[in-house]
Amino acid sequence: MVVYEVWGGQPLYGEIPISGAKNAAVAIIPAALLVDGVCRIENMPKIRDVTLMLEILQELGARVRLLDDTTIEIDARHVRNIKAPYDLVRRIRASCYFIGAMLSRFGAAQVPPPGGCDFGVRPIDQHIKGFEALGATVEVKGGFVRASAPNGLVGSTVYLDVVSVGATVNIMLAAVLAPGMTVLENPAKEPHIVDLANFLNAMGADVKGAGTDVIKIRGVQQLTGGVYSIIPDQIEAGTYMAAVTATGGEVVLKSVIPKHLDGISAKLMEIGAEIEEQGDALLVRRTGKLHRANVKTQPYPGFPTDMQPQILAVLSLAKGTSVITESVWDNRYRYVDELTHMGAQIQVDGKVAVVEGVGHLSGAPVHACDLRAGAALVVAALAATGVTEIDGIHHIERGYENMVEKLQGVGAGIARRERPSPVSLKSVR
Ligand code: EPZ
Repeated sequence: MVVYEVWGGQPLYGEIPISGAKNAAVAIIPAALLVDGVCRIENMPKIRDVTLMLEILQELGARVRLLDDTTIEIDARHVRNIKAPYDLVRRIRASCYFIGAMLSRFGAAQVPPPGGCDFGVRPIDQHIKGFEALGATVEVKGGFVRASAPNGLVGSTVYLDVVSVGATVNIMLAAVLAPGMTVLENPAKEPHIVDLANFLNAMGADVKGAGTDVIKIRGVQQLTGGVYSIIPDQIEAGTYMAAVTATGGEVVLKSVIPKHLDGISAKLMEIGAEIEEQGDALLVRRTGKLHRANVKTQPYPGFPTDMQPQILAVLSLAKGTSVITESVWDNRYRYVDELTHMGAQIQVDGKVAVVEGVGHLSGAPVHACDLRAGAALVVAALAATGVTEIDGIHHIERGYENMVEKLQGVGAGIARRERPSPVSLKSVR
């Protein structure tokens, strides 16, 4: 088993390059299915979730070529298969985007219910509401979501009852080739939603209003291919901002869009960080004390839920009482016990966590139960005294490109280690 070994207590200094955004990449890859031509996508992050989504596309019959480290060429013109591979789809949430893409291109889709991080129930009722509004019938049968629109989809108006990233992406994918106008009200406004719209428009679509409260999509005959570069990852940048705030030091994050980080920057400055915008870079410095703060997660432009575990790890070191309210997910505190193993004082009651700041955390063996939980344990371990061993790192490597190397680059004591597997009884006999 491979683990991260972290010897903490070092302030961080230097530069960290930020990679392309995971949540944009995993939406843009299925969108390539809609393109009647070749797409070249640049700034693609080298992470497990991207590899998995590309494997699904290849299984469906698309030609995928790696042109260089971060540039992918996709030619999906010869795809004819509408049944997504069960074993791959079950491993990732974003695979449900193939429903919208296939429905739009083929008028039918068969995709198993998606996998992904366990935050309690993760329904797709709003996705289905959108598909049905555009004229599809959808049923969940035999372990597959089966959607069909034999006469094709037609533009319509959809009001989302919940602000959902996934439903917004899926309805956009379903609507781009649907004749007529689709009006999507109360959609998600995350940077990756805008990035998907910009990708689709670069390929010849007509999507307006992404990032606002109403998205209007006029269906087009065909998408013709082209070149597109993915935005930097907001949450990867936020994670390293939290790490510097927890350890102290001064780090410049390279290739970011500071505007996307406003909600995160504001909260970290409240806690004690100094943050300076430098064009497409952001300087983060922390020299003084950490202050308690209250945090409430919200859809963008509010404080992102995908930064909740990392900010809680920072606040576990801030003098006083901080209250964190998780308003997006029902059950996103499963990692808290691991932080208490390191000496943090946290009480969880449903969607609220009350954090009593402690003077310091101590290194311990801990387990990452999902992607951002793993990131939070790395943040805590970098600030802790002593050595922390983090297992379950496959979760972290789903969404962070070269985290160990990037942190080593700013002086962090972190390394990947083989942990010898425990001797099994059978092998003794
Ligand atoms: C996306 O998940 C992200 N994943 C998640 O990031 C992120 O936590 C989440 O949006 C919220 O920002 C990707 O982009 C691949 P939602 P998604 O649909 O689309 C409810 C990470 O760490 N809802 O916006 O699954 C739902 O239960 C991952 O990168 C319905 O009720 O989230 C939740 O309470 C983890 N019905 C809320 O909406 C629906 O049909 C937001 O979910 C859909 C959602």
